[in-house]
Amino acid sequence: MQPRPLGRTGRDVSPIGLGTWQLGADWGAVSEDDAFAVLAASVDDGVTLFDTADVYGDGRSESLIGRFLAGRPGHGITVATKMGRRMAQEPENYTPENFRAWSDRSRANLQVDTLDLVQLHCPPTAVIEDPTTYDALDELVAAGAIAAYGVSVETCAQALAAIAHPNVTNVQIIFNPFRLKPLDQVLPAAEAAGVAIFARVPLASGLLSGRYTAATTFAENDHRSYNRHGESFDRGETFSGVDFGVGLAAASELAGVLPEGTSLPAATLAWIASRPGVTSVIPGARNVRQARSNAEAAQLLGGGTAGAASDAAAFDLAAFDAAVHEVYDRHLREAIHPLW
Ligand SMILES: NC(=O)c1ccc[n+]([C@@H]2O[C@H](COP(=O)([O-])OP(=O)(O)OC[C@H]3O[C@@H](n4cnc5c(N)ncnc54)[C@H](OP(=O)(O)O)[C@@H]3O)[C@@H](O)[C@H]2O)c1
Repeated sequence: MQPRPLGRTGRDVSPIGLGTWQLGADWGAVSEDDAFAVLAASVDDGVTLFDTADVYGDGRSESLIGRFLAGRPGHGITVATKMGRRMAQEPENYTPENFRAWSDRSRANLQVDTLDLVQLHCPPTAVIEDPTTYDALDELVAAGAIAAYGVSVETCAQALAAIAHPNVTNVQIIFNPFRLKPLDQVLPAAEAAGVAIFARVPLASGLLSGRYTAATTFAENDHRSYNRHGESFDRGETFSGVDFGVGLAAASELAGVLPEGTSLPAATLAWIASRPGVTSVIPGARNVRQARSNAEAAQLLGGGTAGAASDAAAFDLAAFDAAVHEVYDRHLREAIHPLW
């Protein structure tokens, strides 16, 4: 994969990374062996960015990544973790002392002295807008506990507020064919400011895999069972906030415009990664097959290997882009655009 600069850090990351919420919890069980196999398959296929968080499985995702990378000295992988959800999301909890304690725990889990990148994990708007937040993060950088920091956000307004702070390396936001609002202002603003954008929930929690039907069910401990209406956390994190039935219809229409041999998830990931301003798209994978096919979607960006050359030649990014906008405008804009 052709690497891209990670903001102003001097590091490069792959345009397709790996989201590892699945290796923690909330998506049904993933065994340790399967988790290590997902990480290994991704790296073998050129992924150099892992996204995790201190709360995924209460540290399980971070610890698995730490153990995996400890066995690969000189690995060249950038690990982006998150902090801020080990306490209630109240502005008074975002203190320098808590930042220090949370990042120390992540350093232990990940087995590193300095964290590559720490993102505030969808904090309240007041925290994103408060300049003292960034002063405290600058102190962690000066102390060598973290190399860089960013902000994971729910809304475009929050993204724009974070981008305005000069030392922010990245903003992580939901962006996919069912969530187009970041195209309006966030991606251009990030590009102009040299801030990296990580596109999360790129497959709308699997709706854009194109393999679900009205009869599909999810495990009881899977957020797609228990957070469909935002019962536990922001509704936008589950199916990107899209009604399941509407999402099935929209995904089916998008799949219908693709040439034989090009899958909807691969086309979706390539479309996201090719939007100006996007640094990396971070699909979550629950097994090796998903991890591998997601990494291989980079071949649709050009420079692919022989195996996918014919699919890449048949795939028309501009035609898919037109379909994405048309389907969004008809099925989703009215319900989704005003909310995030
Ligand atoms: N607040 C935050 O900062 C925040 C919130 C959410 C996510 N994230 C990060 O973003 C990452 C990505 O988002 P996400 O995992 O929520 O959603 P996602 O990437 O949109 O969807 C992941 C799901 O899509 C399905 N899938 C993945 N690859 C597939 C493939 N090749 N073919 C068919 N199906 C495939 C799997 O569903 P099945 O499970 O049905 O197999 C998988 O669990 C997370 O892992 C996490 O690192 C951050």
